[in-house]
Amino acid sequence: MTDRIFNFSAGPAVLPVPVLEEARENLLSLGNTGIGVCEHSHRGKAFLAVYEECEAVCREVGGISSDYKVLFLQGGASFQFGMIPMNFLSSDAHADYLLTGAWSEKAQEEAVRFGKTHTACSSKDRNYCYIPATVQCSSGAAYVHYTSNNTIFGTQWHRFPEVPANSAVICDASSDIFCRPVDVAKYGLIYAGAQKNLGPSGVTLVIIRNDLIERGRTDLPTMLQYRTHSKNDSMYNTPPTFGIYLMGLVFKWIKSNGGLVGMEQRNRTKADRLYAYLDQSRLFKPTADRDSRSLMNVTFVTGNDELDSQFVKVATAAGLDGLKGHRSVGGMRASIYNAFPIEGVDALIAVMQEFEAKHT
Ligand SMILES: Cc1ncc(COP(=O)(O)O)c(C=O)c1O
Repeated sequence: MTDRIFNFSAGPAVLPVPVLEEARENLLSLGNTGIGVCEHSHRGKAFLAVYEECEAVCREVGGISSDYKVLFLQGGASFQFGMIPMNFLSSDAHADYLLTGAWSEKAQEEAVRFGKTHTACSSKDRNYCYIPATVQCSSGAAYVHYTSNNTIFGTQWHRFPEVPANSAVICDASSDIFCRPVDVAKYGLIYAGAQKNLGPSGVTLVIIRNDLIERGRTDLPTMLQYRTHSKNDSMYNTPPTFGIYLMGLVFKWIKSNGGLVGMEQRNRTKADRLYAYLDQSRLFKPTADRDSRSLMNVTFVTGNDELDSQFVKVATAAGLDGLKGHRSVGGMRASIYNAFPIEGVDALIAVMQEFEAKHT
């Protein structure tokens, strides 16, 4: 087998090795069924057991009560950008959007197709390098939408935004879901494309409060209504079976590694180590404001584009892949999701130290 290298990709991203090993076995035959996991009918007993276990462990790990439905949908997080306003917004209503990056902008752009929006806060003035200190929500919003972690800009909400009581809070948690404990009861809906912290691309986790499902419009095409997926346990049509299977393995991996408390410890150790190095470096500088720094995506620059691209090349040659920053920020981005190993952070710091010694 080819040796695995350190994969800092922002998504699809690194998955836990034990998960991949187990999946490898089950690709040929799921347990002793003689049929591979991707080849089983979604209506058959073997896959239904996979599905039920995935949902049960997701609920256990996330502390998700029966007030919520757990759905496994398709179309990525981007599909939710439209599906949410389609269901919960109308031309005579408005929703609040907290703008902390390109993904929240995109979510808002979809909402204006269906109703009005109010920008409750924005950090666009400084290229989204911080999480706003205050939020000014409107009154009577159909829902409040925010992005808990800004993958591109390396910022993350470390508090629950101040919203009016009884708001239906909707969160795009694509790049930090289950990276730390979460109080699901505060939310109306949480969604996340799987391909960063949960599994492969092609499946989107949606955790939605039961009353919100019923509040959704009834005149939409069947597949666009949450109630369709809820009533049919995500199996109105063929669900992304492999994605659900793998996500189930990742949930079990999270559980056996201390649950969300364990994930937070693991993630803090990695992020603290990397930021501590960056803070004392004479060459590399973090781009996000200190109180807004992400545990998941660490963005940094040298301040010199030529040096940045040289560093990315040197790092790639040293077996550290995916460090090039998003074009809107430039520089570098180290995505260190749940499954990313601490050894990869140490390897990155070692390469940075060497590069710094040569270039300062
Ligand atoms: C925070 C966030 N939201 C949404 C998306 C879009 O996800 P998808 O490609 O699953 O539509 C991404 C992708 O990187 C993201 O990081």
